[in-house]
Amino acid sequence: MTITTIILAAGKGTRMCSEIPKILHKIANRSLLEHVYDMSKQLADNQIKIVYGHGAELVKENLKHLQASWIEQKQQLGTGHAVQQVTDQIGDADTVLILYGDVPLLQLTTVQALLANVGDKSLGLLTVNLTDPKGYGRIIRDSSGRVQKIVEEKDASPDEKLIKEVNTGIMAVKGGKLKSWLGQLKNNNAQGEYYLTDIIEMAVGEKIKVITNQPSTEDEVMGVNNRMQLSHLERVYQLEQAHKLMAQGVTLRDPVRFDIRGNIESLGQDIEIDINVILEGKNTIGSNVIIGANTRIKNSIIGNNVEILDNCIIEDAIIGAGSRIGPFARLRPETVLANNVHIGNFVEIKKSDVAEKSKINHLSYIGDSTVGSNVNIGAGTITCNYDGVNKFRTIIEDGAFIGSATQLVAPVTVGKNATIGAGSTITKDSPENQLTLSRVKQVSVSGWQRPVKKEK
Ligand code: UD1
Ligand code: CA
Repeated sequence: MTITTIILAAGKGTRMCSEIPKILHKIANRSLLEHVYDMSKQLADNQIKIVYGHGAELVKENLKHLQASWIEQKQQLGTGHAVQQVTDQIGDADTVLILYGDVPLLQLTTVQALLANVGDKSLGLLTVNLTDPKGYGRIIRDSSGRVQKIVEEKDASPDEKLIKEVNTGIMAVKGGKLKSWLGQLKNNNAQGEYYLTDIIEMAVGEKIKVITNQPSTEDEVMGVNNRMQLSHLERVYQLEQAHKLMAQGVTLRDPVRFDIRGNIESLGQDIEIDINVILEGKNTIGSNVIIGANTRIKNSIIGNNVEILDNCIIEDAIIGAGSRIGPFARLRPETVLANNVHIGNFVEIKKSDVAEKSKINHLSYIGDSTVGSNVNIGAGTITCNYDGVNKFRTIIEDGAFIGSATQLVAPVTVGKNATIGAGSTITKDSPENQLTLSRVKQVSVSGWQRPVKKEK
């Protein structure tokens, strides 16, 4: 079965009150249109056509990476007019699937059930029963329950308005038939638009059976028209992702206070995630990992048995097995920690490799550095990696001990098992196995007296 998927995405989205076209608004950091695209991409033998119009420049600029053909609908004269723009790209034998770019949570299984209803003598229509059907096209059935037509809210009689079964807008039909019906659409209705929904009555007139199916939940077919709906669908999406993770053996302390904006590439078992954690981009998380509250992890690889304490920000980092991070640690891009490394509170690491069993426990900045194994970096140590123009590397070899409040002015190397005295400013390489310190010798002044306050 060759499928042509037409995603309607030309509408304005006035109620978003936004400069950004509606379909570029995001759920889980991915645009509404991309959600629809991702789902339809999973259908085999499928050509995707996107009908765009409002905010054309921005839409194409932001979504040019999608493997789809773009068809501009210069004036938005209705859903039927939108599909007409694609007519010459539809093969007679194709199964044409119509989707909306602003209905982001539609499930593949629902679409597959819809497609299964398409044949030479039938078409598939996705409908849903709503307690409040206001604003939607109503499904009109005859006394034996066969679909006769769709009537838009604005064209409906008071009796028709009582009907709770509505058109989701999503349908599937053979290309040849669709093209002949598109050619017959008229705009003599309350809105003066070319309604795609009019093809249903034409199909019935040609004895083509309209077979309906329903989504598993209402939210699946909900469109986004305003920011309340956007946030509602964001939460629905997030809860679904949370449930998927729990089904795979992750403990979420509170699934409604968890957000994932991207994918998990690989997931271990017995992962515990506390509240308000955000996982962004592509992450890999090993087994027996604990992630503390209020932590954001982006594009990172977390090894087995890692413990990340509360309030950490981790981006483009690799954390080796058994390491402990935080609380309040920031791992910036290109941080690579080997196994059993400890990074403590108020420590920032950038573009640095830290080898096994090294500890940077308090209040430090380590940037552009190579830190060996079993190194201990004291509180308040700073690598001065930047002279205002260029960046330089600091190398700290295995077993070195850096006393607290030390500045390492790069480029500089601290040798194997070297000790740096607390409070030093190190500007030259420090030899291995020796104590190096640069601080001024301590003096005590005998007989010194504190100043006393002058009489006025
Ligand atoms: C449409 C259906 C209605 C259904 C409802 C479900 C028609 C005539 N009516 O109504 O039966 O209950 O969807 O939400 O089809 N679009 C274009 N170009 C246009 C017009 C619309 O691309 O010229 C796109 C919009 O961007 C949107 C989709 O088509 O993604 C639906 O348009 P919208 O205006 O929301 O349709 P409704 O009138 O609400
Ligand atoms: Ca709508």
